[in-house]
Amino acid sequence: MNDPRPIGIFDSGVGGTSIWKEIHNLLPSEKTIYLSDSLNAPYGIKTQEKIIQLSIKNTEKLLEMNCKLIVVACNTATTNAVKVLRSTYNVPFIGIEPAIKPAALKSSNKAIGILATRGTLTSELFAQTSELYTRDIDVIEVEGNGLVELIESGKKDSEKTRELLEILLAPMIEAKIDYLVLGCSHYPYLIPLLTEILPEDVKIIDSGEAVARQTKAILNNNNILNSNSVKVTPEFYTNIDPRVLSEIINANVNAYKVEQLDF
Ligand code: SIN
Repeated sequence: MNDPRPIGIFDSGVGGTSIWKEIHNLLPSEKTIYLSDSLNAPYGIKTQEKIIQLSIKNTEKLLEMNCKLIVVACNTATTNAVKVLRSTYNVPFIGIEPAIKPAALKSSNKAIGILATRGTLTSELFAQTSELYTRDIDVIEVEGNGLVELIESGKKDSEKTRELLEILLAPMIEAKIDYLVLGCSHYPYLIPLLTEILPEDVKIIDSGEAVARQTKAILNNNNILNSNSVKVTPEFYTNIDPRVLSEIINANVNAYKVEQLDF
């Protein structure tokens, strides 16, 4: 088993690097190509038709780059478009969905919070998962309007972001949630502020590690793992000024390539 072709990862912007990081840590000899569609961020307020169109555009770019598997590192794109992608293209797709199930199963207070985009919260896939696991649970769903824009503009640690989070989290704190599910791949970058604002006993769950484990399993099942242990340099492409993307990657890895590209 030695398939050196890259794993392709795309997101509406820089947030999916939180997923990329987990994949890179678990599978360091796999080459990764990351597409940050920041020019079109946020996806969360767009129509499903538009989200599908953007997801197809990103997928075709990654296939042009010879990717063997594609990770849709965006909750909004997964919940609205992964079904279409899977039925259109002949490569495996890994999607990312809010981790409702573990939160619902572990909650002692029987109250959990879900912070996600409108696109995710109103999707059919989200409704099905929620219905399955949260029948006896109080679920406080909150749209994180404005958060993606703040993260995309390099303001993830700013006072403005803190103020917005305080407003968004208030109904969850009031409802005494003990688990907060991050339903957008941008939001793990808010964990430092979230832990400051939330009561100490609230645990935060994101999907990064689970997606990395699933990626490994699917590579294995399809016989397309790269068994070569030579170190590879991850590549990142964005369709806007790469400054914010570079800052985020810099905090996670030493050697990488980042470039602006039209897609
Ligand atoms: C967005 O682009 O609005 C957020 C992406 C996500 O849902 O992960």
